[in-house]
Amino acid sequence: MTKPLYILNGPNLNLLGTREPEIYGTTTLAAIEKSCEDQIAKSGIPLVFRQTNAQGELVDWIQEAGRAACALILNAGAYTHSSIAVFDALNALSLPVIELHLSNPAAREAFRRTNYVAPAATASICGLGAKGYQIAVTEALRLANIKT
Ligand code: DQA
Repeated sequence: MTKPLYILNGPNLNLLGTREPEIYGTTTLAAIEKSCEDQIAKSGIPLVFRQTNAQGELVDWIQEAGRAACALILNAGAYTHSSIAVFDALNALSLPVIELHLSNPAAREAFRRTNYVAPAATASICGLGAKGYQIAVTEALRLANIKT
């Protein structure tokens, strides 16, 4: 049986749609999840799509992805810039990992240039808004050698 694709979202991403729309756009996380579901449906690959504000829960889910997923797409939100625990969890994985951000953190405040996800990821997609999730799904399935 084919393993699911995991898409994990970190803190404050539950607020997409209303949170700083000039930076993150107006698309809600529920709408992003629906479009990822629609996109992946034809491949027959199950999708696990989750969001948490808790760092420990995110680490638990990254570990779970390591056991269960064909690939991981991770928008770690602000934990990208602060969490050695996320970095360590990602380094324990042996599956494709795509780092994702709606905005381009490198073009924002200086503190966002510290990044604990990118050095442990296979690839990074930044600055393309909600569309980045579609691109990430396509590329995650390709990296996992899944025909679509
Ligand atoms: C973000 C970028 C992070 O710097 C920020 O803390 C977020 C969202 C993005 O998707 O652009 O919460 O991950």
